[in-house]
Amino acid sequence: MKDLFHFQNKNFLVTGSSKGIGEAVAHDLLDLGANVWGVSRTNTFNLERSGADRFGFIPADLSNPSDRSAISESGPEQYDGIFLNAGASGSIKPFHLVNEAELRDLFELNFYAPYLLIQDLYKKKKIRPGCSIVVNTAHGAFFQPAASSAYTGAKGALNGAFRSVAADMAKRKIRVNFIAFGYVDTELLRKNNVPEETKALAPLGVPAPSEITGGAIYLLSPASRWLSGTTILASAGLGLKQVPML
Ligand SMILES: NC(=O)c1ccc[n+]([C@@H]2O[C@H](COP(=O)([O-])OP(=O)(O)OC[C@H]3O[C@@H](n4cnc5c(N)ncnc54)[C@H](OP(=O)(O)O)[C@@H]3O)[C@@H](O)[C@H]2O)c1
Repeated sequence: MKDLFHFQNKNFLVTGSSKGIGEAVAHDLLDLGANVWGVSRTNTFNLERSGADRFGFIPADLSNPSDRSAISESGPEQYDGIFLNAGASGSIKPFHLVNEAELRDLFELNFYAPYLLIQDLYKKKKIRPGCSIVVNTAHGAFFQPAASSAYTGAKGALNGAFRSVAADMAKRKIRVNFIAFGYVDTELLRKNNVPEETKALAPLGVPAPSEITGGAIYLLSPASRWLSGTTILASAGLGLKQVPML
């Protein structure tokens, strides 16, 4: 059983590690004995916690090509796991109110940045054979919510592209899996002022980031070593129909 969740001395890259879901996953990886390199524009990672001496901060704006290239030139020789987590939702609005700059910005961070980062890491041989890549998409990419077309479009593209990437990388035993959250109580969600009655559509409630790390940890661990191309829908039951249907 211990081998299934063996993280000791392994190297992980977590994008968007300064807060929210990325920070929580990075802390769990450290608690499990891993070495973690975290990427974000600001460094608010809590270095008071145990294991913080195994945390390396890589300051970078993922939307910036030279910053991305700096990421693949720093860190360890090779990564055993990568959590492609950094992202933004923009504000909730119907599609006819989305302006072009906003649409392009959301695609830049949520789609082009992780795609080009992984491509660069792969070309520079920073991804160890057997590595597990976990892509943070979104529940909305699968269930087409209203007023979220730019965000769900970018996350849907991410899902489609990385399923192909999974096929391309399989010959090197590199796995690519996905985690799709519903509502998680982070700054991203709070900025959007989602009404309480909307959040109540998730019958299990709205978790704090530290409560929903299990799916990502499982996909990053050897316990999931025969999985590639799968999605864990970690949306607190948001996809369940709560009305009787015949
Ligand atoms: N919260 C939810 O309800 C929810 C639901 C579904 C999916 N998700 C997905 O989960 C992921 C994490 O979201 P979260 O809720 O944890 O959001 P969050 O609390 O806003 O954290 C976002 C993280 O991404 C980093 N980031 C943003 N823009 C960046 C950039 N240009 N360059 C480098 N880092 C950048 C931020 O760091 P800096 O600001 O310091 O750069 C921060 O560490 C996102 O991909 C989001 O789409 C979230």
